[in-house]
Amino acid sequence: MAVREDPGSERKNLRLSACNAQAGGKRKFLNVIIMENPGNIHIDIEKRGGWESAPLLQEFEFKPYYYLFQVLDPGRISKNFFTDLSRFQNNEGHYLLVAREGERIVGACAFLVSDWDSRLFGFKYGTVKYLPAEGGYQESLAVKNEMVRFLLEFCGRMKIEFLHFRVDMADISTIHSLVANGFGFIASVVRYAVESANLRPMQKKSPHVDLFQNRDLEQVKRMSKSIFSDNRFSLDSRFNVDMVNTLYEKWVENSCLGKVQDKVFVCRKGEEIAGFTTCGLRRKESEVLGKRIGAIDLVGVDPRFQGKGIAVKMVNSAVEWLRENSDVVEAIMAARNKPMIRILESFGFSWKASQIDWHRWIGEK
Ligand SMILES: CC(C)(COP(=O)(O)OP(=O)(O)OC[C@H]1O[C@@H](n2cnc3c(N)ncnc32)[C@H](O)[C@@H]1OP(=O)(O)O)[C@@H](O)C(=O)NCCC(=O)NCCS
Repeated sequence: MAVREDPGSERKNLRLSACNAQAGGKRKFLNVIIMENPGNIHIDIEKRGGWESAPLLQEFEFKPYYYLFQVLDPGRISKNFFTDLSRFQNNEGHYLLVAREGERIVGACAFLVSDWDSRLFGFKYGTVKYLPAEGGYQESLAVKNEMVRFLLEFCGRMKIEFLHFRVDMADISTIHSLVANGFGFIASVVRYAVESANLRPMQKKSPHVDLFQNRDLEQVKRMSKSIFSDNRFSLDSRFNVDMVNTLYEKWVENSCLGKVQDKVFVCRKGEEIAGFTTCGLRRKESEVLGKRIGAIDLVGVDPRFQGKGIAVKMVNSAVEWLRENSDVVEAIMAARNKPMIRILESFGFSWKASQIDWHRWIGEK
């Protein structure tokens, strides 16, 4: 086994060793360099305070909305991050793991058990939100490895069966620590955004597109149950297909009922609903971030009517509403969803970030 010093390490006592990270039984996924002993690190569920001032967290690159750094004030992005982090220490089903070397915080991991998903799928469904660690690639990889191992053991004890983690593609040490610990790469998504003042709606509004009405609900629900197949749930065969369809049906229903979105636009073809688009404001975050963050959420067109420009017309109505009611608009979609990317670019959106969805089924080696 090759052993060498980490030239960039502040902790010179650390030794690195090349090892074959194992995941998924006997299969080898990746040769990564992992520190054998990442210093004198103590990891635990955070119960005391003081982490708010940790430089590691202040400087964390992937705070929520990091990809809107050109538009948002960095101080506000930080404030929003710390507001979010405090939930993980205080709320039930939320956990903040902290790795300390002496008194210094060298790593953190925030994760939660999602009530909604757990109820829907019938098992304890966890989401990892953040995994920052101190140092360059090798040092942070070592700390992250330790934290992910701790996390998996903890989840095992808590009977959390599943973890999802969405990670920026540039966050290589996190990606490698997930691979080394048996997470699977499921799907890639892209984030697009535009300042609302730069939105370019179409000159002519379609007469077939108007606001959702209650009588449309059953048709919209029926459609939403069958058209969303390119997503991380459908791409992971361990999720039950009917449950995934129900997830989208409920998501769209809640949007139509105004519970999770502000506006739903539909396109009518006679008595039939040919498609729908949901959009709205992220109110809680907007307040802290000091800008109204709008979002185009779900867009769906009945397969019989796809390829006829219906999505463009519906997104146009959403764009008109968002131009009046928000300061910046974002959208997220599968990286390979060419029609959606084309539509958003035509309204002035541009690429902001690429992210990868990782899944880990606990109990599977
Ligand atoms: C994505 C979806 C909403 C698009 O709806 P649509 O009404 O068929 O889209 P449009 O006809 O308005 O076409 C949109 C644009 O994509 C282009 N396009 C279509 N298929 C394409 C492909 N495979 N590659 C590149 N461009 C493509 C069209 O030419 C059009 O661009 P143009 O106006 O410059 O010609 C629809 O396919 C759908 O419901 N898919 C399933 C659900 C989904 O993926 N929703 C999006 C994520 S929430």
